[in-house]
Amino acid sequence: MKKYLLLSALIASVSLIQCGQKAQDDEDTIFTGQPRTDAQKIVSIMQEAMLAELQKGLEGGDAVKAVAYCNERAHPVTDSLSRYYGVLVRRVALRYRNPANKPDSIETAVLQHMAELSAKGQIPPAQTIDLFDGYIRHFEPIIMKPLCLNCHGVIERGDIAPATLEEIRKRYPSDRAYDFNLNELRGAWVVYMATNKTSN
Ligand code: HEC
Repeated sequence: MKKYLLLSALIASVSLIQCGQKAQDDEDTIFTGQPRTDAQKIVSIMQEAMLAELQKGLEGGDAVKAVAYCNERAHPVTDSLSRYYGVLVRRVALRYRNPANKPDSIETAVLQHMAELSAKGQIPPAQTIDLFDGYIRHFEPIIMKPLCLNCHGVIERGDIAPATLEEIRKRYPSDRAYDFNLNELRGAWVVYMATNKTSN
């Protein structure tokens, strides 16, 4: 039963941001009882929802508006999941834009490992950590795609349009999430999921 509550929360969050993506409504097929698999599904739904919204914002050429969207909506969407026991979804990065996305010590260790692989030109694999505290922490790497350069690219190369940069600096005075290259590790999705919530 709890798994369906979680599912409803997820779908509610996704439709809340009017992502333009059809949330999967086949409840029975979403959760498998395997925390790692379920965490991966949560990430892919969240990721597609955010991507769809970004693409919509950028198609109109209005990156400034899209920055405002990320600023105002990214956290309500991910945070709304945390109201439901057992699950918390975050995006973290070593070089973050929003200080709220600063990684804790375990997240930092995972991100550093992923960054090392990324520096060698590899795509880091997803990782699931079980510290036997009743939760698994599932990490999915977030890799720089062409679209991302608009707001996280190399400033000197002119990847970020001046108006966009101005908006970013206004909203994030201590921003560190720029000067990334294509295919580089940008950060990670983290899903904290209670191991006894999906398996029974
Ligand atoms: C329109 C500008 C824009 C684009 C395009 C964009 N981002 Fe962001 N990104 C932001 C903003 C603004 C934030 C801060 C959101 C917040 O307040 O949590 C952010 C935050 C993030 C974070 C959370 C960590 C942090 O730095 O705070 C990750 C990870 C991230 N973006 C990855 C990406 C990826 C991957 C892409 C391409 C698919 C992308 N972004 C495209 C503006 C953008």
